[in-house]
Amino acid sequence: MTRIRLAHLSDPHLAPLPSPSARALLSKRVFGYLNWLKNRRHALGEDILAEIVDDIARQSPDHVCVTGDLVNIALPEEFAQSAAWLTALGPADHVSVIPGNHDAYVPGAVKRAVDFWGDYARGDNGESFPYCRRIGPVALFGVSTGVATPPLYASGRVGSAQLAALDRLLDRHDDAFKVVMIHHPPDAGLAAGRRGLTDIGDVRDVLSAGCVNLVLHGHTHEASLKWLDTPRGRAAIVGVPSASSDGARYPMASYALIDIDFARNTARMTRRGFRRADGPIDSIEITELDFAPVLD
Ligand SMILES: [Fe+2]
Ligand SMILES: [Fe+2]
Repeated sequence: MTRIRLAHLSDPHLAPLPSPSARALLSKRVFGYLNWLKNRRHALGEDILAEIVDDIARQSPDHVCVTGDLVNIALPEEFAQSAAWLTALGPADHVSVIPGNHDAYVPGAVKRAVDFWGDYARGDNGESFPYCRRIGPVALFGVSTGVATPPLYASGRVGSAQLAALDRLLDRHDDAFKVVMIHHPPDAGLAAGRRGLTDIGDVRDVLSAGCVNLVLHGHTHEASLKWLDTPRGRAAIVGVPSASSDGARYPMASYALIDIDFARNTARMTRRGFRRADGPIDSIEITELDFAPVLD
């Protein structure tokens, strides 16, 4: 396999939000629910997301990467809805998912999410975060930054146990083009403080020492491209808007296609999405990611 095409979408924040019970709102959820009523209830997100998903299918990616915030306030009904949505996106060996802070909205939520997501959130050996899946010459790593936080906080943390395991996993897959999925961007210029990664320094150290080639993240709801220096060259850090955004609060929905050509040692990113809310979906930006895939 000399070419691999990855599709990267994020932050679908699936709608409609099921009506929570009064008991379920006795938590941080009440803030998120009021926020959703104010901002999202009338959004066009469902149709937009469906069109993005259809467009991804037409591009025939080898694998689809979903970088978190599938739900809004981590109600069990929302996780059931998200599991059905993943099934519609493709089979578990074709789609990988990690949690975001909204999937970790209250204590215990990440575990519940992973129970619903099953094999979509596990590695080739059935392991949980950090997990690793091989897609030909690509090694795809799934990292969780999902930790329950106080109201008005949207921060994330990988934690020392997961980082140590990731360090070992990255080492073991030195023959591969290494792609890491992580919800919060490992770049303080994109998210910091109450919205950032609390162990960002350690995360960047492990990603760099592990010679990653590409990092895929969500959380910011904006398209971005940053770089991380590694001993073998630089890694691209790619962020995408919410795949359901109607453009009212954040940029319009789009996703990234990453084409890695192992014969020519090149990678190209194509952002596809809406220029305006009434469509159509189009290629809106093509960027050569000028780093060479490194294969031992
Ligand atoms: Fe989000
Ligand atoms: Fe987020």
